[in-house]
Amino acid sequence: MNRIRKPIIAGNWKMQGSRQKVDDFMTLFINGYEKNKTSFSNMDIVICPPFPYLSEVHSYIAKTTVELGAQNVYFEAEGAFTGEVSPSMLVDSSCRYVIIGHSERRKLFNETDSLIARKFQAAYDASLTPILCVGETETERKQGQTLKVVQRQCESVLEVVGIEAFKKAVLAYEPVWAIGTGITATPEQAAEVHTFLRSLFKSGTVDLSEQVRILYGGSVKASNAEQLFAQTQIDGALVGAASLNAEEFLTICRLIT
Ligand code: PGA
Repeated sequence: MNRIRKPIIAGNWKMQGSRQKVDDFMTLFINGYEKNKTSFSNMDIVICPPFPYLSEVHSYIAKTTVELGAQNVYFEAEGAFTGEVSPSMLVDSSCRYVIIGHSERRKLFNETDSLIARKFQAAYDASLTPILCVGETETERKQGQTLKVVQRQCESVLEVVGIEAFKKAVLAYEPVWAIGTGITATPEQAAEVHTFLRSLFKSGTVDLSEQVRILYGGSVKASNAEQLFAQTQIDGALVGAASLNAEEFLTICRLIT
């Protein structure tokens, strides 16, 4: 397929792993990556491990085009915020990307639209590329609220950071009912929301609708990635469980090239 936007596959390891598992994964991953290096040259691959393993992962990918991402960030630059990590600390740790507004953070850690907007702004100001996650719950979908929900989630950030900030950001449509459930949105369901999301990135003279990269996330696996990537609206994937298996993650990366 002739893609107008550079594809991107990001692996979100969530709170999983150990030093040993990171080493095992990265050894296999780098091996497979080196074998197919040329096919990965026109795409972005991002690995988002838990904070304690950032430098470990970075030591493996330092000589490749694979990038490092974090799963969370705080909006303050520094100070008495026990347990939090600032954008500049992530930059210092060689991160280029950071996931913001993941539904697990929204639900389990009560992150609000306004907190997410502040985190986005702080990450953007520090030159990190935010991966902003949006998506509806199962109930919201059943009630026909899907587009309304993702619109609210996007606009609450757009109002704070402005449309220009999305020149660098990445969006991830992740229906909550598809995350970790084994149930994937159909390619058509995902494409419908992606098309709608694009329409939100047009304001006055600025039109990023065809420029902003939008990933799909929610039970993406090697077995369903190809159908999803066949949709021109889908620029890649945010992969959870399947990103913990080096071979499967590499297969997903290959399927978009
Ligand atoms: P999953 O997670 O692929 O395990 O469904 C996706 C995500 O939460 O980003």
